[in-house]
Amino acid sequence: MVHKLLRNSIEFFLFMRLDEEIQKRRTFAIISHPDAGKTTLTEKFLLFGGAIQTAGAVKSNKIRKEATSDFMEIERQRGISVATSVMCFEYEGKNVNILDTPGHKDFAEDTYRTLTAVDSVILVVDCVKGVEEQTERLMEVCRMRNTPVIIFINKMDREGKNPFDLLDELEEKLKIKVRPLSWPISQGINFKGVYNLYNNNLNLFEESKTKISDNYIKLDNIFNKEIENYLDPKFIPQLREDVELIEEVYDNLDVDKYLEGKIAPVFFGSALNNFGVQELLETFLLIAPQPQARDAMERTVNADENKFSGFVFKIHANLDPNHRDRIAFLRICSGKFERNTFYYHTRLNKKLRFSSPVMFMARDKNLVEEGFPGDVIGLYDTGQFKIGDTLTEGEQLNFKGIPSFSPELFREVINMDAFKSKQLDKGVRQLTDEGLAQLFIQQFGNRKIIGTVGELQFDVIKFRLEHEYGAKCNFASLNYYKACWITCDDNKVLQKFIQVKSHYIANDKDDNLVFFAENEWALKMAQQGYPEITFHFTSEFKTEKTLNAEFAEV
Ligand code: G4P
Repeated sequence: MVHKLLRNSIEFFLFMRLDEEIQKRRTFAIISHPDAGKTTLTEKFLLFGGAIQTAGAVKSNKIRKEATSDFMEIERQRGISVATSVMCFEYEGKNVNILDTPGHKDFAEDTYRTLTAVDSVILVVDCVKGVEEQTERLMEVCRMRNTPVIIFINKMDREGKNPFDLLDELEEKLKIKVRPLSWPISQGINFKGVYNLYNNNLNLFEESKTKISDNYIKLDNIFNKEIENYLDPKFIPQLREDVELIEEVYDNLDVDKYLEGKIAPVFFGSALNNFGVQELLETFLLIAPQPQARDAMERTVNADENKFSGFVFKIHANLDPNHRDRIAFLRICSGKFERNTFYYHTRLNKKLRFSSPVMFMARDKNLVEEGFPGDVIGLYDTGQFKIGDTLTEGEQLNFKGIPSFSPELFREVINMDAFKSKQLDKGVRQLTDEGLAQLFIQQFGNRKIIGTVGELQFDVIKFRLEHEYGAKCNFASLNYYKACWITCDDNKVLQKFIQVKSHYIANDKDDNLVFFAENEWALKMAQQGYPEITFHFTSEFKTEKTLNAEFAEV
């Protein structure tokens, strides 16, 4: 009896602790089209959180556009970017985890996968350029997952588009309702500051890269005469008119709708000048979701379940060029992770123990003893992890939502050193396990085909095969338009299709059937000719049997 009471109260205590830790955590990604200001904003958040002391500390975390042909430089920068893959800091009692996403479009798939590990997103838009291509694609992924999004319109110190036009553009191109929570007072050289529509503050702009703005003037409403003491009268009528219009046209922010990913609050500011960043961060911490439940194939896993579970969403090699190690990034979904404890690797049906798990603090990584839902832990990996792998305390779970996308560029791997074919095989398998590219084995002729979403990956693969595995290869271009996974309930039809299209049939690494379409027309013809066959554009068809047309475009 005493034992039972004691056990119940210990369990209750542990649950309360877990619940407290979950409530404290906010795990999100900052995403943008390259150059919109993602790195600058990330850096300003870290400055606020005290995680870094100087500007410029995370500046080098992106692969620059001009580096596209220089893979040595890419490798060097990839090395740096590992250290900034996850950045944690504390702000007003909250543990904030920012997951970095590569800006370069050839690594878009990396970004999409990272988005599976966050609970919300801040989307940065350049006020001069408006919504750009990459922003639209990233937003599609957020929409599919109903990820809550806050939008930050950056570079208001530059002459940009009209703010109302920007809001229309956001709604139209990103296909989400928006609600401004702050409003700019002019822009460019005339930029005077923002009016905070959430708490009726006037925040006046000062150009400063280091100083945090404290120029807040509390007004109870925009018609308060006091505003005339602070703002040049020539800007006041326009501001009042704008604010009135916003209140008329836009409904108040419904936080539940934001949490369902149906409406995006919008802030204006200048990340470079530290302006509008604090409002953004504080509102984010107020409304952004704590770690959420996640779907596994078997069931939904709630964050506050006391048994640990998590999944690997990213694998990175070359952390330290002197020790060719890999690190698997694991998002904790439920329960408490503890160092030196055996966990169950559900794909390998094997128990693994981690003696040196790490967490990332700006550019440092530290050994951690424990982690909670929402945290991202780096696990040293000797090749036992693949993207999407699940760890649990023993339950057979497989987290969903970490798909491979249908690649668009294809090359055949040609071995250039017959004595190193084993090394080549191993290298190709391991690099594709990292999610760098996808490997297909063509049924006809047993050719090894690598599929990617960007050119850059081929350079990286070739370089790494040579330097890490001692294998030499070349790539022969293949003129395929898309690879899609095929399934069919009628085996006879499937076999017929395989026979007719034998030159275009391959298996992926998990032995799923894949069809290569030479062009859009060939794909259409195949779909029309074989209506019984389903053509899938993400590898997640095993759980989601329906073809997701939107995903197909990603
Ligand atoms: P990204 O990670 O989204 O690719 O963009 P990043 O933060 O690197 O910013 C891209 C460029 O835009 C940088 O200039 C940065 O200084 C500038 N920038 C960011 N926020 C603002 C802003 O609020 N106002 C203005 N005017 N510029 C901003 P750069 O010249 O490419 O790099 P750097 O030489 O400044 O490092």
